[in-house]
Amino acid sequence: MPTDDSTLAAPEAYGPEIAGVLVSRAQIASRVCQLARGITEAYDGSEVTILGTLTGSLVFLSDLIRLLPLRVRLDLVRVRSYPDTATTPREPELLLAPASDLKGKHVLIVDDILDTGRTLEFLRAHASSSGAASVRTCVLLVKRRDDLPSRPATDFVGFDIDDHFVVGYGLDYGDLYRNLPDICLLARFAGGSGR
Ligand code: IMP
Ligand code: MG
Repeated sequence: MPTDDSTLAAPEAYGPEIAGVLVSRAQIASRVCQLARGITEAYDGSEVTILGTLTGSLVFLSDLIRLLPLRVRLDLVRVRSYPDTATTPREPELLLAPASDLKGKHVLIVDDILDTGRTLEFLRAHASSSGAASVRTCVLLVKRRDDLPSRPATDFVGFDIDDHFVVGYGLDYGDLYRNLPDICLLARFAGGSGR
């Protein structure tokens, strides 16, 4: 995926808070189709229970599920994650648990972005301990983190990106910018992750 400066022309309407587009809506649409094909093949006609994370995965989730010709159950979870700048890293907390019984289900966890990986690992453990028959993970973005020794493996990944703080297509900063149709760089963190 190109990430050089020539790709960073932000639509005027986004205003000065947005430094540029990192992944365009066209790139997203095409990649989501490919992901849906991979997921459809992996489940091979089995029913899948999708656990989507609130709120960041909502836009991705709504595009993705409409491309899956499978029997799909949809459940939503909300996890409170703590920034990894905290002096004592804390376990994520489940603020909204799955409404359905995951026992015996083939669970696909869908999240917006994998940064430290703690959120995904926590949800995978929750689904496994709830008796899921299988647990797979799908994230739209994986952030490069050369400073971390290891992170959980993911089954389906949209894009690997550099360590930038990104917004749009569901991702927020202070609950703003989720509605932008492209994945964008914030001007205040341009050139860094904001950590
Ligand atoms: P984790 O560090 O992998 O547990 O990621 C925790 C959560 O932080 C993700 O699910 C996102 O909601 C949020 N997050 C991490 N990086 C970004 C970013 O660049 N933009 C917006 N949200 C982010
Ligand atoms: Mg999230």
